[in-house]
Amino acid sequence: MSAVLSPRPITSRIEVHPLTGVLGAAITGVDLRQQLDDELWSQIHQAFLQHQVIYFPDQALTPEQHIAFSRRFGPVEPVPLLKPVDGYPELQMIRREATETGRVIGENWHTDSTFLERPPAAVVMRAVEVPPFGGDTGFLSMYTAYETLSPTMRDMIDGLGVVHSATRIFGSLYQAQNRRFAGTSARAMSVEDGDREVVHPMVVTHPGTGRKLLYVNQVYAQRIDGMTEAESLPLLKFLYEHASRFDFTCRVRWKNNQVLIWDNLCTMHRAVPDYAGQLRYLTRTTIGGERPRR
Ligand code: SIN
Repeated sequence: MSAVLSPRPITSRIEVHPLTGVLGAAITGVDLRQQLDDELWSQIHQAFLQHQVIYFPDQALTPEQHIAFSRRFGPVEPVPLLKPVDGYPELQMIRREATETGRVIGENWHTDSTFLERPPAAVVMRAVEVPPFGGDTGFLSMYTAYETLSPTMRDMIDGLGVVHSATRIFGSLYQAQNRRFAGTSARAMSVEDGDREVVHPMVVTHPGTGRKLLYVNQVYAQRIDGMTEAESLPLLKFLYEHASRFDFTCRVRWKNNQVLIWDNLCTMHRAVPDYAGQLRYLTRTTIGGERPRR
């Protein structure tokens, strides 16, 4: 009698615990200090593509292990705005001392560095020392934001471009407010770099999933390409409000040694500034991205 071949059961070596019905998942059952074989890596990568933001509790990674894990997602390319960790140029700091006052980096909904021609694809962040409560990070899904627009609105915005720059963050609009970059994490930047403009499509197709997503953020978007700021504002304002509907968000609470990866194309994030008087220190690597395409 010939052997009956049955298909290998599909088992997962990781446990995926979704945080909401929209995005975010905790992953357990894996030790990121170890070299990940291809099967394990593929399961983590699938969870990342599906849930858009994934995090791993209790991963006491060294800086070298943090960088090695990050490289599985793509090339590590630090963003211009953040200071590196001493001795590790690829690892950057999100650090706020207990004594620091003023605005918290990233406290408005945004996608990182969309003022660049090739904004980052993802960010891998590890909590080194975080407050016992407060200092969460919020995330939202730009897939959901796009998919919940009316078909007519989707048709209308599908062909539009958006001009992005960092003028409000370190360019001449920032200078006009006569403020100086302060804080432990931020690097001094040139006004010229802050004012450089780049156009990205308003609707982008994710290269990993083929899904369309809305690609605008109030920190770096200046206006719709070919329109004045005044003409652009009503539509952009509507899209910002629509994208940040509470139902499209999740909120991640940090614990020391938690490692989190967010997809920087299909999500926005914001730091919650509710931990005055306490140190909050995380390190991050940034994964280089492609030019966003329709
Ligand atoms: C950021 O916006 O890159 C920082 C997010 C955070 O501190 O939670």
